Amino acid sequence: MTVLGGKKAVVTGGSRGIGRAIVERLARDGAEVVFGYARDAEAAAEVEKAVAGAGGTAYAVRADLGEPGAAERLMETAEERLGAVDILVNNAAASFTPAPIAETDEELFDRVMAVNARATFLTMRHAARLMPDGGRIVNISTLNTLRAAPGIAPYMASKGAIEQLTAAVAQELGPRGITVNTVSPGATDTDLLRGTNPEEALTMVASITPLRRLGRPSDIADVVAFLAGPDGHWITGQNIRATGGLS
Ligand SMILES: NC(=O)c1ccc[n+]([C@@H]2O[C@H](COP(=O)([O-])OP(=O)(O)OC[C@H]3O[C@@H](n4cnc5c(N)ncnc54)[C@H](OP(=O)(O)O)[C@@H]3O)[C@@H](O)[C@H]2O)c1
Repeated sequence: MTVLGGKKAVVTGGSRGIGRAIVERLARDGAEVVFGYARDAEAAAEVEKAVAGAGGTAYAVRADLGEPGAAERLMETAEERLGAVDILVNNAAASFTPAPIAETDEELFDRVMAVNARATFLTMRHAARLMPDGGRIVNISTLNTLRAAPGIAPYMASKGAIEQLTAAVAQELGPRGITVNTVSPGATDTDLLRGTNPEEALTMVASITPLRRLGRPSDIADVVAFLAGPDGHWITGQNIRATGGLS
């Protein structure tokens, strides 16, 4: 019996990067997984195939979390496919081009807040109503809420909201044995990171990171798997910074 055998999981933004690594890791640990994505159907199909090739089960569901109703639809589709959801990982984040606040319009702010924060609120509300006792919720934030950076105000605002949602909902669901935690990655080698930073910046970050490299998506998936698994049962309401020591 694998560590997550019999468990059902939902991962948002599972088609690429950190989300893909989380899907693959939870499936390898024995969970059946439904994962969401917005645009890249080819990447999503590749993840389904890779998981199946490794003997696991993962189904892709297209749901743009910026659209009204999409977060609830993702959860309902997962329940139709799998039954009750034991593990929820809110990982999806809207991509955007960094810019100073003076040049940021409110449509961008609204989209980033919708995909990152509102969708996390909605999937957690759904889980609060239907997740079985003993379930697990892991929300992905960022080291940037501790280590601020210019040009990403909407992103930082949305991640701050996610961290506070985690803290509040951990209080509410604790009596049912459901843990709710945040994992905050540092610079992790994905499309998002490479799309928003020049190579020199990434080299610089690696050089000031105590473990002396960028994170890999699997580094973050390892932490999520711990929190989602049986050994994570006594940790709730925490923000685990998975950053190679950068703070
Ligand atoms: N990489 C880093 O250095 C880093 C650092 C700190 C925190 N994080 C956090 O880690 C998480 C994953 O980041 P990543 O680097 O793996 O990002 P990524 O490579 O850009 O992947 C993002 C994932 O989210 C999905 N997604 C994007 N917009 C969506 C929408 N509107 N609706 C539904 N799904 C959507 C994407 O699917 P489609 O491509 O199909 O749209 C993709 O699967 C994010 O929460 C991010 O903030 C990352």
